[in-house]
Amino acid sequence: MHALFGNYPGRQHAVAVGADAGDGSCRTAQSKLYWDQRARRFASQGSGLAAVCAYGMPWFYNGAIHLLQYLALRPWLRVPSGTRVLEIGCGVGRWSRRLASRGASVTGIDLSQHMVTEARRRTREHKPKGPCNFLVSDVSAPAVTGRFDVVFGVTVLQHVLTAGQFERAVQSLTDHLAPGGRMILLEAAPSRPVSRCDSAIFVAREERLYFEAFRRAGLKCVTSIGVDPMPWKTAFLPHYGRLPRPLALAILMAIMVVSVPIDLIFGRRLRQASWHKVFVLEHESPLERCIPTAVACRLPGADA
Ligand SMILES: C[S@@+](CC[C@H](N)C(=O)[O-])C[C@H]1O[C@@H](n2cnc3c(N)ncnc32)[C@H](O)[C@@H]1O
Repeated sequence: MHALFGNYPGRQHAVAVGADAGDGSCRTAQSKLYWDQRARRFASQGSGLAAVCAYGMPWFYNGAIHLLQYLALRPWLRVPSGTRVLEIGCGVGRWSRRLASRGASVTGIDLSQHMVTEARRRTREHKPKGPCNFLVSDVSAPAVTGRFDVVFGVTVLQHVLTAGQFERAVQSLTDHLAPGGRMILLEAAPSRPVSRCDSAIFVAREERLYFEAFRRAGLKCVTSIGVDPMPWKTAFLPHYGRLPRPLALAILMAIMVVSVPIDLIFGRRLRQASWHKVFVLEHESPLERCIPTAVACRLPGADA
């Protein structure tokens, strides 16, 4: 066993990682432990963002991340009543409830029992219009039956660590997508390989690897937009926990004040520079399967 660390800048929270059986089961167990611990500590607090956005970061950072994600996802959150939605890695259910409040019938799955317990508690309190059910399940082998009009996931596949589990997750989600349905994913997917933020529970997979996996699973990308092209936040994260807290907070606040408005205004168009991307995917027709990936992936709003 050797100690690696969580995905948050403070890196105070060591996660022990043992030898894997090769199927990723050990890493899944470690990941489950990490998310359970995080949920136990933060999920019931306030908006619950500390459990699902960057760990150890102040409220203003997590609030800004939430806003950037919400504005990027907004066009796909407007689902008609009755839409069957599968939300993967639902956390405390912040997107599930939003979709159910429009009348969608939502099934949320998450690896962590504590996230699911908190998602259920918050949903009982908020009473959305549509049904909203949560269960504990690994996205690589979702314990759900049937097909869904929308498969929705926000910053989840970036926590699926091994290439094999990632491939299985994309394939199973495709199998659960109804004909004519849409898969909406928001993930850390830099345009070039970047490993400085990788950890025992997080991997910034290059976007090319997403496109290749989508293609192999029989998905076409109908659109993809950027979320946060300003690079200072992610560049500063590895240093945040090493600085005295008042100084770290002051630098972070200054970075956010400058970058968030730029991200909000230009994020969608500066796709290539963006750390997070939204992928909107549909089943490929049999004919499209013969077309090379570069032609099949149309990227409106791309800056390259
Ligand atoms: C960054 S949080 C995002 C939560 C939620 N999507 C949101 O945006 O509020 C990642 C979530 O994915 C869950 N997760 C991580 N690995 C998973 C896996 N293999 N299967 C299912 N859920 C997973 C974690 O428990 C956690 O709730």
